[in-house]
Amino acid sequence: MTTAHALPSYLNPDELGPWGVYLQQIDRVTPHLGSLSRWVETLKRPKRILTVDVPIERDDGSIAHYEGYRVQHNMSRGPGKGGVRFHQDVTLSEVMALSAWMTVKNAAVNVPYGGAKGGIRVDPKTLSRGELQRLTRRYTSEISLIIGPNKDIPAPDVNTNEQVMAWMMDSYAMIEGNLSTGVVTGKPISLGGSLGRREATGRGVFVVGREAAVKRGVAIEGARVAIQGFGNVGGVAATMFADAGAKVIAVQDHTGTVVNQGGLDVARLHHHVAEVGSVSGFPGAEAFLDRDAFWGIESDILIPAALEQQITADNAPRIRTKIILEGANGPTTPEADDILTDKDVLIVPDVLANAGGVTVSYFEWVQDFSSFFWSEDEINARLTRIMQDAFNAVWTVAQDKKVTLRTATFILACTRVLQAREVRGLYP
Ligand SMILES: NC(=O)c1ccc[n+]([C@@H]2O[C@H](COP(=O)([O-])OP(=O)(O)OC[C@H]3O[C@@H](n4cnc5c(N)ncnc54)[C@H](O)[C@@H]3O)[C@@H](O)[C@H]2O)c1
Repeated sequence: MTTAHALPSYLNPDELGPWGVYLQQIDRVTPHLGSLSRWVETLKRPKRILTVDVPIERDDGSIAHYEGYRVQHNMSRGPGKGGVRFHQDVTLSEVMALSAWMTVKNAAVNVPYGGAKGGIRVDPKTLSRGELQRLTRRYTSEISLIIGPNKDIPAPDVNTNEQVMAWMMDSYAMIEGNLSTGVVTGKPISLGGSLGRREATGRGVFVVGREAAVKRGVAIEGARVAIQGFGNVGGVAATMFADAGAKVIAVQDHTGTVVNQGGLDVARLHHHVAEVGSVSGFPGAEAFLDRDAFWGIESDILIPAALEQQITADNAPRIRTKIILEGANGPTTPEADDILTDKDVLIVPDVLANAGGVTVSYFEWVQDFSSFFWSEDEINARLTRIMQDAFNAVWTVAQDKKVTLRTATFILACTRVLQAREVRGLYP
């Protein structure tokens, strides 16, 4: 018999944040886990949480302290894997949820990793390049106790990029006294990075989107696509959908929403964002709407690719679309999930839709270990196959069990994790 435990003392039951969303998702999958459900409490508590103080000297000579985390949610199937986020709203609850979603995601696409995530509560836009480098290096040194090529492998997430990964790798290499390229993924190509990694998450979103469109009878050619977030994930997905003949009719970033019902010129929008720093003022837009109006725009495919908890019980009733592809992690609350499912919207969940990034991170790690690098065509072909196979496996479970794609993904993934848990047994 398992004992249901109370929440750990470090969580506030009234403000569970994203971790509360994740716990509800686990409750939904539990009835489908059969005898493995005796292990389900394993999924409701992270294996290891490290909180670190990250002090740096600012350029003006003052000392600033930042709150940093690395959470290893589950390592039954392999070393920890998950990104590092620099954002002013990072909380422990958020990093815990993101680490748990990595456990599910890695098992869903069957790459041999557990789930982990890290973050620093900082707005990196307020830091100079030198300050950002010092912050990254000190954070890496603080978490170096628990990361490593066979222990836990960080990667980029919101506001972190290949330069940040290069600094992390270098800091770790200095501490360890050896090169250790495999300690992080999402590195620059010149440092053991993989071709295709930068585009991998957006590409994966496109690949599962194409599969979902077939199931829903939506033609990609001419499909109206609305995207929240025009960064690594949303920006690449926009390009791939536009290249396939879809019309990207709306894009929102942190400054607002640009709309063109005839289809935005995505290449020009990329140039504009590179120059100006946001979609605001894009000359190719018919209209510039405020943040909230975005959710009322009618589309065939909607891609949240910014932050979590964006689609809520407030805006879900206004959403008119056929397919939602969750590029972001945790963009839809469970209440919104139910509202949209009732409206017959097909939601491809984050733990499947955005798994392309970690899949090519896995390829990068494998290439680093063997010091043998693959061509971009090989990488894209392997990525496409893994994403298609994962989508189809999830689709079959969803049909068999008459559940949503999210619950089906959780059934597949949690079964893999808990089977590993069971066969390994409890230590000691
Ligand atoms: N980069 C990856 O490989 C990867 C992999 C899996 C999941 N994700 C998830 O995808 C999401 C986006 O990640 P990214 O790497 O593209 O980040 P990014 O920093 O490159 O881009 C984020 C985008 O979101 C926009 N944004 C920020 N706050 C917003 C707000 N309040 N409203 C509207 N737009 C806002 C920004 O303007 C930017 O366009 C995150 O949830 C991340 O966890 C990323």
